[in-house]
Amino acid sequence: MVYDFTRYLAAKKTVDDRALNKDVWRAFKALLPPAPAVIEVGAGIGTMIERLVEQGFINCGRYTAVDNHPPNIAAARQRMASLTPTLHVELETADVFEFAARVHGRQAWDVLVAHAFLDLLDIPTALPLLFSLLKPGGIFYFSLNFDGATILQPAIDPAFDALIEQLYHQTMDERLTNGQPSGDSRSGRHLFPYLRKAGADILAAGSSDWVVFAGEHGYPADEAYFLHFILHTMHGALHKRPELNKARFNAWIAKRHAQIDRGELVYVAHQLDFLGRLPMIKMAAL
Ligand SMILES: C[S@@+](CC[C@H](N)C(=O)[O-])C[C@H]1O[C@@H](n2cnc3c(N)ncnc32)[C@H](O)[C@@H]1O
Repeated sequence: MVYDFTRYLAAKKTVDDRALNKDVWRAFKALLPPAPAVIEVGAGIGTMIERLVEQGFINCGRYTAVDNHPPNIAAARQRMASLTPTLHVELETADVFEFAARVHGRQAWDVLVAHAFLDLLDIPTALPLLFSLLKPGGIFYFSLNFDGATILQPAIDPAFDALIEQLYHQTMDERLTNGQPSGDSRSGRHLFPYLRKAGADILAAGSSDWVVFAGEHGYPADEAYFLHFILHTMHGALHKRPELNKARFNAWIAKRHAQIDRGELVYVAHQLDFLGRLPMIKMAAL
C-alpha cells in the first residue's frame, strides 16, 4: 500500500463529519459574522473550508488557509477551484508561527480555526501567537483535539494492546519539533485551563470522538484507507521503541491491517471541540 498524506486527509473528511460535536458546530454557525475574515491554521488540503461552504456557514468573505506542507496546499488549490467564487480563498504555504510573526500588527481576522492541529503543538506557547492573528473580540473554533484514548477492537492481546496504546500516547507527549516540545496526548482536557490562562472565554465545548467501523457494506467512503494510515502512523511512531519486541509488534500491526481487510476493526479516538471568544480589549500578555 502507498501511504499518501493528502489521500489520508481526504479520507479523514467523512470520519470528521461524523465526529464534530454538533452542539459546538451549531453554536459556531450562530456566532459567525455575515462576511467574515477567517484564518485557518494547519488547514491541510482544505476540507474544513469545503465543509463550511457545503453546510452554508460561509459563502462570502475572505478565508486564509495556512499549512506548511506544500503538497497539502497544492491539493487544496485543486479542491478550491470548484468552490463558490464569492468566497475569496487565500492559500499560504508557511509555518504558522512565521506567518503570524510576518503579519503581526498588519493584518487580523474575525475568526480563527484550528482543526486536528493544536494537539501537534506546545499549546501554552502556541496560543498567544495564534491569538495574535485575531482581532479583539474575535472568535476561535478549535476542533478535534486529541484527548488520551485510542481504542482498537477486537482485542488481540489485552496487555500488549494496552502497552501499545500507552507508548503511542507517550510518543505524542515526548515529540520535539526543532528541539521544542510539540504535542500533548491530553490536549483536549488541558485546553480548559490553557484557554482561560490565555484570557479567552470558552463558549461551548464537547466531545468529538472518531468512531470508525464497517457496516453491512464495509467501511464508508475511503475510511478503510484512513484506518490503514492510522496503523501505519502508529507503526512509524513505535517501531524503534525498546519497550516493544520488534517481531511481536510487527505481527500485531499486520494483524490489525488484516482486521481492516476483513471489516472487523473498530477504531475510536477520543477528542474535544471548543468554541470561544477573545475579550474586546486586548490583554497585555497577548
Ligand atoms: C493532522 S493534520 C490536519 C490537517 C487539516 N486540519 C485536516 O484536519 O484535514 C495537521 C496539519 O498541520 C500542518 N502543520 C503542522 N505543523 C505546522 C506548522 N508549524 N505550520 C503550519 N502547518 C503545520 C500539517 O502539514 C498538516 O496538514
